[in-house]
Amino acid sequence: MRENIGAEALRRVVDPAEVDALLSAGRTLPAVFYTHSEISRLEDQLIFRRAWQLAGTVVELARPGDYVTLRISTVPIVVVRDKAGILRAFVNVCTHRAQTVIEGDGNCSNLQCGYHGWTFGLDGKLSGVPGWRTAELPPFEELGLKPVFLEVWAGLVFVAIEPEQSLMEQLGELPAVMRSTGYDFPFETVDGMSFLGQYDYHIKANWKVYHENSSECYHCPTSHPGTFGELFDFSRVHLDALSFNNGGGSFGPFPLRTEMRDRFPAEKAGSQYGYAQYFVWPNTLIVTGFVGEALFRMEPRGSGSMRQVGRGYARPEQVDAELSNLIDVTFAQTTSEDIAIVERVQEGLESGMYSSGPTSADRETLLRDFQRRVWASLRPGFE
Ligand code: FES
Ligand SMILES: [Fe+2]
Repeated sequence: MRENIGAEALRRVVDPAEVDALLSAGRTLPAVFYTHSEISRLEDQLIFRRAWQLAGTVVELARPGDYVTLRISTVPIVVVRDKAGILRAFVNVCTHRAQTVIEGDGNCSNLQCGYHGWTFGLDGKLSGVPGWRTAELPPFEELGLKPVFLEVWAGLVFVAIEPEQSLMEQLGELPAVMRSTGYDFPFETVDGMSFLGQYDYHIKANWKVYHENSSECYHCPTSHPGTFGELFDFSRVHLDALSFNNGGGSFGPFPLRTEMRDRFPAEKAGSQYGYAQYFVWPNTLIVTGFVGEALFRMEPRGSGSMRQVGRGYARPEQVDAELSNLIDVTFAQTTSEDIAIVERVQEGLESGMYSSGPTSADRETLLRDFQRRVWASLRPGFE
């Protein structure tokens, strides 16, 4: 664990009374929350190490040896299904000299560190050390990978380092909201879901800038007219936005544009079911669509950069190749438009010429609640 950051030093970075006043006046968090390394360190301690993070789903973690890796802020994590079929999560840092043990995702028969070849079983126990007389080593039991918490909800696999709440407490009203908006919990209930792959974007912006951008569609008509706007009618989307007291929220489903409806499977095309987004505090986005699902995690990398990790899944419905290509292209273009936006926002935040701006009570509702939750989490660090 990093050392505690002094409250006095933090109060020199920003005055907590000023932040209280800005948020209660409906204004944004001050720019320093997106640019200062001390704020990032505080987020690491008070948000990321305490919150559950979505690692993946039971679809790609179905068989013994299936694994995925992620980072919870500064901590590398590996999630693996062991030989007995139990899902386990460990700190993905070798107990020899600290290299990350395993990268990416896939299937493995054991967890072998690529540096000097130490081998850990799928249960995290050290099982092999090449080229050493074991008498020179501390007992193997003391050199296993450090376990972290893991819980599965609706086929979604979450991990946490020092959770301050149970997973269900952290999710709060989200399951009920998902149900009420027509989400069918495909990772639990739909046969034939398949994992398509992972998409990685390294983005020069604070993680909150991207997350906030995803939390409103106020920008959609001006920023995505030719991409997202071709598929969906988002003119009324802000009216459907729901936010919860735990920093989560949802919006959508966006209805499809009328002219697009006949291109989708009949049972979907006639309904209002469309593209919807669900936010899980602090940094996860669950996206559900007509033919697939996507999960996004905004991993911070210091104050001015982040990694957006997306995982895509196909529903078993067959759609024509032209349509599926249209969806892929649309989402790739929309993402690149969003990345360009957030990188320019980050430049503005770092310019020293902007401190805080007004937000709309109905167009930026989720964003407001998210910022309030960020501040509620960080404020104890200032006292
Ligand atoms: S650091 Fe992993 S084997 Fe040496
Ligand atoms: Fe966008």
